[in-house]
Amino acid sequence: MEVIIRPTKQAAIKLAAQLIAKSVRRKPHFVLGLATGATMEGVYDELARMHSAEKLDFSRCHTFNLDEYVGVPPESPFSYHEYMRKHLFSRVNIHPLCAHLPNGMAPDLAAECRHYEHLMREVGGVDLQLLGIGRDGHIGFNEPLSALRSRTREKALTPSTLAANVKFFGGDMDKMPRRAITMGVGTILEAHNCLMLVTGDSKADILARAVEGPITSMVTASALQLHPHCQVIVDEEAAANLQGKDYYRWIFENEPEWAPYRA
Ligand code: GLP
Repeated sequence: MEVIIRPTKQAAIKLAAQLIAKSVRRKPHFVLGLATGATMEGVYDELARMHSAEKLDFSRCHTFNLDEYVGVPPESPFSYHEYMRKHLFSRVNIHPLCAHLPNGMAPDLAAECRHYEHLMREVGGVDLQLLGIGRDGHIGFNEPLSALRSRTREKALTPSTLAANVKFFGGDMDKMPRRAITMGVGTILEAHNCLMLVTGDSKADILARAVEGPITSMVTASALQLHPHCQVIVDEEAAANLQGKDYYRWIFENEPEWAPYRA
C-alpha cells in the first residue's frame, strides 16, 4: 500500500484524476471501477474537464460501479445510476452499454449479483478500482463484519451509513433504502489496481484505522493492506492521525515515479 498526502482536497482530487487519466490513455480498452459519494464528485468534474479540454477518450472503456441501492429504480434521482449519469456519464463518451451498475430492482437479486460478477470476468476484470471510505470504514457497501473474501451480494446498511447518506435523500430517512447490492471485499481485491481517495477531517480517524490498524472485517477498507497495488490518496486533513505521515510525504517528494506530479 502506498499513501500519498496532498496539501488540499483539490490537490488530492486532481492527483486521483491524473492517475486515472494516465491509465486510460495507456490502455484504451480500460476497465474502470467507479465509486459514488460526495468525495468522488470532484474527481468526475476533473475527468469531464480532461475529456473536453484534453481529449481524454473513454469510448472503448468499460466501467463497473461498486454498488447500488436495492429497491431504487435507475431513473430515480436517488439512485447511483442517476448519480453517475449526472456526475460523469452525461459529460464524457463512455458508451452507455459499457457503463455497468448493479440493478437494485432485479426480481432475483442473487442472480443479478452472479451476473454482475460474470460481466466483470468477461471483460478481463477491473483494471483500476476507484474507492472512497465510509464513516464506518466500509468500501462499496461492505459494512463491518463483511467477509474479507465476500463476493457481490446484497447487504443491509448500518445506522452509521444511513445517517451519513440520508443527505442524498433530501434528509428524509423514510426515503432511504435499508439494503444495497455491493461488490464484495474479495471482488474488490481482485481489481488489478486499487485507488482509494479520502479527504476531510471527518475521515481522519477511520483512515488511520484502515491504513495503519490491523486487518479486520470491522473496517473492511483495512483489507486493502492485502492488495499488492493499492494507492491511497489523502489530503492533510484526512491524514491528521496517520503515524507514518512524514515517511509518506518523503516518498512523494523523493521517489522518481512521483516527479511528474510534484509541480
Ligand atoms: C457510500 C458509498 C461508498 C463511499 C461512501 C463515502 O457509502 N457506497 O462507496 O465510499 O459513500 O462517501 P462520501 O464521499 O460521501 O463520504
